[in-house]
Amino acid sequence: MRVIVVGASGTIGQKISEALEPNHEVLRAGRHGVDVSVDIMSPDSIADMYKMTGRVDAVINASGGANFKAVSDLTPELNEKGIESKLKGQINLVLLGQEYLNDGGSFTLTTGVMMDDPIPLGASAAMANGGVKAFVKSAAIEVPRGIRINCVSPNIVQESWDRIGGLFAGFTPVPADRVARAYVKSVEGAQTGQNYEVY
Ligand SMILES: NC(=O)c1ccc[n+]([C@@H]2O[C@H](COP(=O)([O-])OP(=O)(O)OC[C@H]3O[C@@H](n4cnc5c(N)ncnc54)[C@H](OP(=O)(O)O)[C@@H]3O)[C@@H](O)[C@H]2O)c1
Repeated sequence: MRVIVVGASGTIGQKISEALEPNHEVLRAGRHGVDVSVDIMSPDSIADMYKMTGRVDAVINASGGANFKAVSDLTPELNEKGIESKLKGQINLVLLGQEYLNDGGSFTLTTGVMMDDPIPLGASAAMANGGVKAFVKSAAIEVPRGIRINCVSPNIVQESWDRIGGLFAGFTPVPADRVARAYVKSVEGAQTGQNYEVY
């Protein structure tokens, strides 16, 4: 299959790309993407990416951010990053990409454990994750041409522990290559509307 991986240079995206490469043609995307550049916060940039790639069999997103702030410090402006990036960025990849997906193709988006197991400072990211999960579940019943759509909810990964583990007291991190297998399941399997929890 021909698979776009947005965020392919990232901690999780690298492992997804490595897991897919033996069996698929992987198009590595990101703001500084190796094969194609895209900024998911810009609908024009997403549209340009799809014009460049043409038709594909799968689109994976392993990018998207939000501000980590206490709710008491979270302003509407600071909350916008989660809305524009993790929420709208991912959903726009689907809205603008559906016509480029071959019949029976798949979208796989990324949520995260903090929507189910809250951490301090995590409300904005959890909001975006929950929105993506709800969109995936709902969109799955009506996307045409046998197209499937799932998301993966990673726990904090071992490779990110030194950087952000302090926010996840008491969590048991999981290896990123284990998280990557859930994306492979989404691409190669037959399920739709799922949120694969890798906790
Ligand atoms: N790491 C964890 O423990 C963990 C746990 C749960 C959920 N998640 C979620 O998993 C996703 C990936 O996390 P990660 O830790 O692998 O991230 P990461 O290491 O920071 O990598 C982010 C990747 O996304 C790309 N990117 C960043 N902003 C982008 C944009 N606006 N448009 C397109 N590409 C962009 C980056 O490449 P460029 O700089 O070239 O754009 C990079 O390839 C995120 O949504 C994160 O919230 C991560």
